[in-house]
Amino acid sequence: MSGFINNVLFGWYPYLCLTVFLFGSLVRFDREQYTWKSGSSQLLRRRQLRWGSNLFHFGILLIFGGHFVGLLTPIWVFDMLGISHGFKQGLAIAVGGLAGIACFIGIAMLAHRRLFDPRIRATSSFGDIAILLLLWVQLALGLSTIFVSLGHMDGHEMVKFMNWAQGILTLQPGAAAYVADVALVFKAHLLLGMTIFLVFPFTRLVHIWSAPIWYLGRPGYQVVRTRFADRHARSAAFPSSPTAAKRALADAARKGGR
Ligand code: HEM
Repeated sequence: MSGFINNVLFGWYPYLCLTVFLFGSLVRFDREQYTWKSGSSQLLRRRQLRWGSNLFHFGILLIFGGHFVGLLTPIWVFDMLGISHGFKQGLAIAVGGLAGIACFIGIAMLAHRRLFDPRIRATSSFGDIAILLLLWVQLALGLSTIFVSLGHMDGHEMVKFMNWAQGILTLQPGAAAYVADVALVFKAHLLLGMTIFLVFPFTRLVHIWSAPIWYLGRPGYQVVRTRFADRHARSAAFPSSPTAAKRALADAARKGGR
């Protein structure tokens, strides 16, 4: 791959993808809030959905966390904590590999359900199917990188990806050079990964922005309405007989006088 093409693909393309990702999401949120969702097909083939969706989400969330921390933590932080590049590489392979397999099985179940159940197929948009298949190929590429990574367990190759990702996000010109000589399967994985950012605003993936993570920091209480309280409130609002109406009025007067 010539230096120019490498620069276009890994130096310019990331900015195109990130710009469309951010501005596209903003515009869709602003203009088309009714489509800001992951359309549910829960009514159909619920069991396969539950298994597939849980495995997929468990795997992808772990992979997302691993990629985020692994690629974007400054290298000096790992050095300061005494975490060697080799250890980090091993961890990425073990945890990323297991999460990747779980995610792969989950996505296979989701794709099977969506493609081969005629009713789900009929209610799926082109985007629903396309993004599922894109993620599937991306997973297969990610898992294939493991075989290459096993050949350099000292972690030096991983450092190139960290320098590249951090160089792009900190607007360093020339960041593309870090990945100029990595194996083709890595390049394909990086390119498809960026493309997923590019198409993100046009797919059901936008629901990721609305993940209710702030619930984690909320105080530990929940509002509980018992069935009894519910029935009581309903019979007060819609009394079933004149006697019930009188009782509800007397009740209300008693409470108001208190
Ligand atoms: C722009 C987005 C992405 C980038 C830059 C990226 C980058 C990487 C890199 C550099 C590795 C190799 C790590 C190593 O040295 O072992 C890797 C591995 C992997 N990636 Fe990605 N990736 C992206 C998106 C994704 C997505 C969306 C998925 C899942 C659908 C995914 C799944 C995997 C898996 C399963 C592995 C192998 C296990 C591991 O090392 O964590 N990646 N990715």
